[in-house]
Amino acid sequence: MDPRRNPYAPGAGLQPPELAGRDALIEDASIAMDRMLARLPVRGMFLLGLRGVGKTVLLNRLHRMADDKGLQTGKVEAPENGRLPQLLAPELRRILARIDLIEATGQAVRRAWGAIRNFCSVFRVSAGDFEFGIDPERGLADTGVLQQDLPDMLIAVAEAAAARNTAVALFIDEVQYLSADELAALIVSCHEAAQRGLPLLLIGAGLPQIAALAGNAKSYAERLFSYPEVGPLQPAAARAALERPAESHNVTFSPQAVEAVLGLTERYPYFIQEWGFHLWNAATASPVEYAVVEETLGQVIGHLDRNFFRVRFERLTPLQQKYLRGMAELGPGPHQTGLIATALGVDPRQVATVRQQLINKGMIWSQRHGETAFTVPQFDAFMRRQMPVLEPHVPRRRS
Ligand SMILES: Nc1ncnc2c1ncn2[C@@H]1O[C@H](COP(=O)(O)OP(=O)(O)O)[C@@H](O)[C@H]1O
Ligand SMILES: [Mg+2]
Repeated sequence: MDPRRNPYAPGAGLQPPELAGRDALIEDASIAMDRMLARLPVRGMFLLGLRGVGKTVLLNRLHRMADDKGLQTGKVEAPENGRLPQLLAPELRRILARIDLIEATGQAVRRAWGAIRNFCSVFRVSAGDFEFGIDPERGLADTGVLQQDLPDMLIAVAEAAAARNTAVALFIDEVQYLSADELAALIVSCHEAAQRGLPLLLIGAGLPQIAALAGNAKSYAERLFSYPEVGPLQPAAARAALERPAESHNVTFSPQAVEAVLGLTERYPYFIQEWGFHLWNAATASPVEYAVVEETLGQVIGHLDRNFFRVRFERLTPLQQKYLRGMAELGPGPHQTGLIATALGVDPRQVATVRQQLINKGMIWSQRHGETAFTVPQFDAFMRRQMPVLEPHVPRRRS
């Protein structure tokens, strides 16, 4: 088919032509936003899932929906080793500027401007100029302790929103990269807002370990948020993700071709986009037959290796790579942590540090104590392609 008209959208955060299988989740978020605007109690959400399941596009979708509903929104992506105050302060400044436009300046809005200014000054972050004379209140978001100042600032902005009959919604992607202190500060903010009945909604997305990280940061986080799982698509949704984008161009797939793609992708949205993309370009006629899937297999795997898996692999030290190779020996997982060490020929304690490093880098996670799983679907098969032989690990002696 004509590559110029290829409708598929493989790539991180790229809006898919058909956002399949997420209607229930979108409806839950829609209810939460409407309740927030009506000043009814609402729990925040953390969308949890592996790489490539579609968390970012879903978060973007919810962000747009919140805008359409008239909530005051901001979005940040937590960078690895980054600083939350630096990212959040400008967003809040923008939000407050929009709130400020709603009516003539009032007390709550003035106070919130002061809070943001204090916050920026004590955490030495910039959020642009503050044009007019603000009398910053002393003792508001100015202690230098993030778990006090971030809630102060967010509460002040939520109060300003409440005074203007609107609500604040914050969207945070890659939550697993926040430090424990930053995550705790966000949770405390939501907790305080909930207690005071203030309209502050947090919707985060990230790797599944977030549920445990949030619980460790503040034990009440479990009840304060819901943790909807964003997983591989159900079969009907997976078929729709593959077939609908082509249908609008009068291109169809044979049933065998569809089932083959569902099997190869394990219904992971990113893999479906890649397959759709490559099949579209390779096919010369509709319906696209199973034979095209067979012919394209090597090309798609090569493309995924170069563009999806290897970039992650190359950010790792040789020892980290070897740990993942040991895991891959056992299959897709999750695996008992002890058995991974056994596969590597060492005692678990000798690889505890490297395992923790891989968790911090977001390559693996642990659903249950003593268990380890990949955060990237089909990474085990990639590791076996990349490092065909598993060499036993010989820890270096400290001199
Ligand atoms: N519900 C969906 N239906 C079809 N394709 C999707 C869906 N969700 C995501 N995708 C596609 O999957 C890929 C990965 O999406 P992304 O949001 O970046 O995943 P994540 O943030 O979970 O790693 C993108 O190419 C996107 O177009
Ligand atoms: Mg993402």
